[in-house]
Amino acid sequence: MSKFYSSNLLLHEIFGLLFLVLGCSQSVGPKPAIPSSGGTGGGDRYFETVKKAFETNCSSCHGAPFQGAGGAPLSIYVYEAAKKMLGRGVAGDANELMYYIRNQIPHLGGDRCAGDADASPCSEVRNWWAQEFQVPSEASPLPPIGRLALIDIDGSVQGWAMDLSVTSQSNPIVVKFYVDAPKETGLLVGEARADGKYPGLSFPGDHGFRFRIPDIVRSGKPRKLFLYGVDANDQTVVELTSSPKTFTLFAPSEEGRRFYTNSVLPTLNQCSRCHEGSGMYGYESAFLYYLNIPSPAMGGSPTNNLLYGKASGTFSHTGGNLCGGNRDRSPCAEIVQWWNIEFR
Ligand code: HEC
Ligand code: HEC
Repeated sequence: MSKFYSSNLLLHEIFGLLFLVLGCSQSVGPKPAIPSSGGTGGGDRYFETVKKAFETNCSSCHGAPFQGAGGAPLSIYVYEAAKKMLGRGVAGDANELMYYIRNQIPHLGGDRCAGDADASPCSEVRNWWAQEFQVPSEASPLPPIGRLALIDIDGSVQGWAMDLSVTSQSNPIVVKFYVDAPKETGLLVGEARADGKYPGLSFPGDHGFRFRIPDIVRSGKPRKLFLYGVDANDQTVVELTSSPKTFTLFAPSEEGRRFYTNSVLPTLNQCSRCHEGSGMYGYESAFLYYLNIPSPAMGGSPTNNLLYGKASGTFSHTGGNLCGGNRDRSPCAEIVQWWNIEFR
């Protein structure tokens, strides 16, 4: 069983990653409130200096030719978007933007100042903060920060979120999920407590969350997922960085379940001499992890999905070709029919 499970997991990761990459190049959403400006002014002019430092330090990922493809957003070069991240924090050294740059938020770029807080671009960011913001009083509530890290092939969302002013484990914050539009008009599809493990975050406590996108919004069409952190102090709701993210998911159907149970499953009897107990035979898992890989949104077809590929021997398979070399024979014919019922 472990053999099947692990290769299944691997695919899972690969497609999860693809999803992440494809879903990454969206623009920033509407702006929630940030701490009030009160610096010396001229922050917008000084941003040109910050932007130059970013172009020097960051464009290998945040820029052509990797723009989007590496999953690295161009938000860091956009004044309003970068200022929003700068404003989520208490000081020039302690704000969301700096946390990415210093890898306190796990970041593919690593620590861009290489352990030296006075190196570029850290010095520029600190100067910029001083021009944009006054030091907020200790008591003033800080907005939550967080990130949607990835949407898996099975539609589970992973990420992290925390309230900078309430970093203790005993005070996890709540993340709310809306579909199609921001919270004012979007569909609230659920919420999750950010109290799980999330590797790499340099803050006390556990702040990871997981959430399963419900079937009602798995319509086979691209849709947007908006994420909000609820401030643990004053309950204000702040859109998280990396929201919204586009997803395209398919839901299992009653018709599909009937067809699978009555027509596909019986033809898979011959598989059980090798696949017994592998978890391949339950309707949901056969749908999600075999028929749905690759997802039709990413080029999946009746004859290139994992189930058909393995059953027909089109993909390298220890079981060989179990359709007698003929795609019109069982179980290939039934798999094609089933695919058409679910995804056509
Ligand atoms: C090695 C590649 C790489 C380099 C270099 C890099 N980044 Fe990133 N950065 C990423 C990726 C990929 C993401 C997307 C989130 C993730 O997967 O961590 C990201 C996300 C971010 C975000 C979140 C932005 C958002 O809108 O979601 C910020 C802020 C950021 N990076 C800042 C920087 C800055 C500033 C530099 C240069 C000083 C830099 N990064 C250098 C790869 C890189
Ligand atoms: C003779 C033994 C044997 C038979 C019979 C067999 N398989 Fe397999 N199958 C394997 C082995 C071993 C693997 C893992 C290595 C590989 O992919 O070849 C596998 C892998 C798979 C995978 C990929 C598993 C994953 O989680 O990624 C699928 C799907 C699959 N088989 C479907 C089928 C179907 C459907 C049948 C029946 C029509 C079948 N197999 C019959 C031995 C068999």
